[in-house]
Amino acid sequence: MTLPEGERLQKVLARVGVGSRRRCEELIDAGSVTVNGQVATLGRRVDPRTDLIEIDGVAIGVRPDAVYYLLNKAAGVITTADDPQGRPTVLDGLPAEPRVHPVGRLDADTEGLLLLTNDGELTHRLTHPSFGIDKEYLAEVQGTPSRGALRTLRSGVELDDGVTAPATVSLLEGNVVRIVIHEGRNRQVRRMCEAVGHPVRRLVRVRIGPLRDTRLGPGEWRELSTGELRTLERAVRRDPSRLDCGTGAAG
Ligand code: URA
Repeated sequence: MTLPEGERLQKVLARVGVGSRRRCEELIDAGSVTVNGQVATLGRRVDPRTDLIEIDGVAIGVRPDAVYYLLNKAAGVITTADDPQGRPTVLDGLPAEPRVHPVGRLDADTEGLLLLTNDGELTHRLTHPSFGIDKEYLAEVQGTPSRGALRTLRSGVELDDGVTAPATVSLLEGNVVRIVIHEGRNRQVRRMCEAVGHPVRRLVRVRIGPLRDTRLGPGEWRELSTGELRTLERAVRRDPSRLDCGTGAAG
């Protein structure tokens, strides 16, 4: 006798938090679930490690071993796995297993949200410039930027590695600038502000694509919810026309 291979699709969906077994069966019945691009039917068996399972075109995080942490990085903490100088790193305080890596990087003196995962595919998409994931920063700068300076930040700043892409920029208070960029160049926000005559005194990342959290204290972390993961997957949704341009970026 040969045993059927894989697990029942509705069981996998329920396990990763899509909904109750019943709800998952309804989604399959409604034709909302595809496996490797083909509409799935009830009873379909899948291998969650190799099959691409999507609900309404959005891949679900079915890798049973994948973890996704959102950290509120404190100032002075290094975005690296290992610091030769022994300074605190973003991995301190996180579970040792499974081993995760930061998605992109924040400078040692930058605070705020950083995603860490062992999901290489999602990391690739989040850091690949062609996906253009927004990152929102609050920059406390020296002095009060003029309208002209804000306009330059918005339209593109000449840096030594080229002009920056258009950004969304607004002045919140006298010296706090909200900057949304989708590039991930090294020290980009600091260099942009410096270039318009307003060096950054404090920099905080408050959003990565759809991810925000105003409740995590400095150094605190939590796992992403299934809903957040799905929204994130949607933000970097597979679009073959965008997969073959450019190279990876720092984030
Ligand atoms: N821009 C910076 O200048 N620093 C960061 O850490 C992130 C974006």
